[in-house]
Amino acid sequence: MRHLTTLLDLSTEQVLEILASAKSLKAAWAAGRREPKLAGHVLVQLFEKPSLRTRVSFEVAMAHLGGSSCFLSAKDAGLDGREPEADIAQVVGGYADVIVLRTFRQSLIDTFVEHSGRPVVNGLSDDYHPCQALTDVMTAEEHFGDVAGRKLAYIGDGNNVAKSLALICAHVGMDFTIAAPEGFQLPDEFLSDLKGKLPNASAAQFTNPFDAVEGADVVYTDVWASMGQEAEKEHRAKAFEGFQVNEKLFGAANSDAVFMHCLPARRGLEVSAEVMDNPRSVVFPQAENRMHLAKGLFAWLLEK
Ligand code: CP
Ligand code: NVA
Repeated sequence: MRHLTTLLDLSTEQVLEILASAKSLKAAWAAGRREPKLAGHVLVQLFEKPSLRTRVSFEVAMAHLGGSSCFLSAKDAGLDGREPEADIAQVVGGYADVIVLRTFRQSLIDTFVEHSGRPVVNGLSDDYHPCQALTDVMTAEEHFGDVAGRKLAYIGDGNNVAKSLALICAHVGMDFTIAAPEGFQLPDEFLSDLKGKLPNASAAQFTNPFDAVEGADVVYTDVWASMGQEAEKEHRAKAFEGFQVNEKLFGAANSDAVFMHCLPARRGLEVSAEVMDNPRSVVFPQAENRMHLAKGLFAWLLEK
């Protein structure tokens, strides 16, 4: 049984298989081929946090492949304590062919892996956002071709997106740099797990954003306060002063560098409006690719 929970759980070969599957389905779709590979299959999505891209791209992906989907908020599903999580997982597994979860605790994903008997996808947890990172590499490859040896600089919080980017970069041979203020960097434990599992990983951490973007092909940022950290918004906005991706910082990367953001973006905080709307910003093709990646992922999970 295949799952996508962290990206640490996959071999590099499996990561490359998912990317190849997504690229081939995107090309088929562009050529007008509508193959109902997953006819009769049902996706169940169970979300504890809001979502635009993840929820819609997964639903649309399933529809394109001839399947259907069903969405439940955490409360609807009874994750507020109505019944034990392991029981919910077992019940949902009886109905679904594949399950996507958006959660706070990574442990809920583990519970579904253990008890649902179905392929489980992490559609974002506090710790990881693997579907986003896979999509980001797909987008970078569309722009640059082979990305091995290229460099992705992430400016901002050492959060779920940053961790997943560090992991995907290690899988595809990209150099990863991050600049974050003290107290918001990637945890040492994460970096040692990364190097333990993927010894060729090239990951460097800085406190000066200009050090991180030097020689970068991709400059990436994400919100300073993630979902669940709303109460820390003001404190974080102060801590991250000087970490905005603006024209000056973006201009310090390679002259053909692209700007990426997983979205939603806060223009004027982590990114300036000028960089969001710069011709070298690929944030909207990146968002669209969430759907193409989802198709490739479902086909890979269900071996179609
Ligand atoms: N990038 C992303 O995951 O967006 P949503 O939170 O809207 O799903
Ligand atoms: N780090 C952000 C990503 C949103 C797609 C969050 O967790 O809210």
